[in-house]
Amino acid sequence: MAALLEVRDLHTAYGLSQVLFGVSLEIAAGECVCLLGRNGVGKSTTMRSIMGLTRPRRGEVLWKGGSIVGWPPFRVARAGIGFVPEDRRVFADLSVWENLDVARRVAERPGEWTPEAVFELFPPLRAIARRRAGFLSGGEQQMLTIGRTLMGNPELLLLDEPSEGLAPLVVEHLLQQVTALKDRGLTILLAEQGVAFSLQLADRVYVLEKGTVRFSGPSAALRDDEDLRNRLLTL
Ligand SMILES: Nc1ncnc2c1ncn2[C@@H]1O[C@H](COP(=O)(O)OP(=O)(O)OP(=O)(O)O)[C@@H](O)[C@H]1O
Ligand SMILES: [Mg+2]
Repeated sequence: MAALLEVRDLHTAYGLSQVLFGVSLEIAAGECVCLLGRNGVGKSTTMRSIMGLTRPRRGEVLWKGGSIVGWPPFRVARAGIGFVPEDRRVFADLSVWENLDVARRVAERPGEWTPEAVFELFPPLRAIARRRAGFLSGGEQQMLTIGRTLMGNPELLLLDEPSEGLAPLVVEHLLQQVTALKDRGLTILLAEQGVAFSLQLADRVYVLEKGTVRFSGPSAALRDDEDLRNRLLTL
């Protein structure tokens, strides 16, 4: 397997507090891979380390075979990695359409994504295109933050806990929409605490525990092994 992204032996700390202790993973083009793990195990820190938002102390991040460790986040994004952070921050005073338009203007990668294409992927956003983003529901905000990241025409999408805090029906819709992205050929790295969402979507999973990879394998292996799931994931 030729990896699109490869993370090797990542060690990341916040000040004196070390969070990642040698995380390694890889993603091939077109794959959907899920980073699973309980609260606080280092899922977001892994994504932040990939994006250049937190600089790892040690380890490598290889994008298409070349090192991108130490690159500033804008340069990582320009190389083709889009990040949807877990806090879903949008420009509250701008409308839905304006949020997408701003993202398109600052995007430095040419490609197929336009606000119209985002509305095709997320039809509910079209109906509220003029609404100020500060008034959106959690699910609408999640669609908008994903849409905004797509404006950068990424090849790899890092999705940090997209289903968190959303109602089951909203999560169901989101699952279909992310599946549609996968079907278009986008490569996806997903971070999740919840098993249901991730196991439906992901081809392979990595389970983190205390900043190290405790399990990696096909999603089905975790789906079929309740013991393993309970050991690694249930609170
Ligand atoms: N900016 C920061 N400064 C100091 N410590 C931090 C910072 N961000 C995260 N941490 C700590 O690092 C550890 C890992 O956090 P991280 O956010 O990577 O976990 P996570 O797996 O994404 O958890 P969650 O499921 O809650 O999002 C936690 O103990 C957290 O408190
Ligand atoms: Mg997190």
